[in-house]
Amino acid sequence: MSALMDAQRSEQSLKSPQDMVIIKNLDFFYANKQVIFDLNLNIQANQILSVFGPANSGITTTLRSINRLYEMNPKARLQGEIYLNQRSIFDSDVSVTELRRRVGMVFDVPTPLPMSIFDNIAYGPRLKKKKRKAEIADIVEEALSMAALWDETKDRLHTPAMSLSGGQQQRLCIARVLALQPEVILLDRPCSGLDPISTARIEESLIQLKKRFTIVVAPHNVQQAGRISDRVAFMLMGKLIEEGISAEVFANPQDQRTSDYITGRFG
Ligand SMILES: Nc1ncnc2c1ncn2[C@@H]1O[C@H](COP(=O)(O)OP(=O)(O)OP(=O)(O)O)[C@@H](O)[C@H]1O
Ligand SMILES: [Mg+2]
Repeated sequence: MSALMDAQRSEQSLKSPQDMVIIKNLDFFYANKQVIFDLNLNIQANQILSVFGPANSGITTTLRSINRLYEMNPKARLQGEIYLNQRSIFDSDVSVTELRRRVGMVFDVPTPLPMSIFDNIAYGPRLKKKKRKAEIADIVEEALSMAALWDETKDRLHTPAMSLSGGQQQRLCIARVLALQPEVILLDRPCSGLDPISTARIEESLIQLKKRFTIVVAPHNVQQAGRISDRVAFMLMGKLIEEGISAEVFANPQDQRTSDYITGRFG
């Protein structure tokens, strides 16, 4: 190994765990109504962060800020800063399309495209640039494998994605995001409406995926946050109440409101 590589490697290890996303002083408004208040949150690379809280806490809005998806809503507006890998996502030279590829999003209701399993995954990579057929097939296999769906679909890749079960459709949607080689994956209640076995499959695949990606989840419930997260952030009425290592927050919450929520006293 060269001295330069050595130096680079030790610099890397000094920096880790690296903040992949930094949210600074975020205020968010829908028309004149403020729904997020001075949010500060760092999201570390190769970890699962669960952002949890009761309804209307601003969790979906927070996720949609990180890839600027909120901009689809003309009444939505924010103040503050968000950095992805040290660079502001609002810099004038940032391409929003490229940002949304780097920060992929999976929604609560799976939304496969009305085409085959294979084409659902291949759709994005085909748009991006001209690729050879074999290359596309490799991307599809890798994405389905990472989403723990390959074994169940490898013999039926050219059948309609709509014929998959709900849990399989949700893993397909995860695979579709993975095929675009993101850096961060946002999942907003990805297990809503899924049975416990499908939920467990998705949770297992997220734990595998964090080796390669940074994952932010709005969990289905507090129990799910406890099972999958390295860190958790508790939000209430647009404010971050508490953030920390998952096991520590659940064992010993620092704020009474966190404690009340995780013990089921409200929400
Ligand atoms: N498109 C919108 N227009 C106006 N207000 C909105 C819009 N979307 C969300 N809000 C409001 O913003 C606040 C935060 O909503 P958000 O969806 O971010 O919360 P959440 O924590 O994800 O809640 P949920 O449990 O419903 O998923 C709520 O008061 C909500 O009513
Ligand atoms: Mg939500």
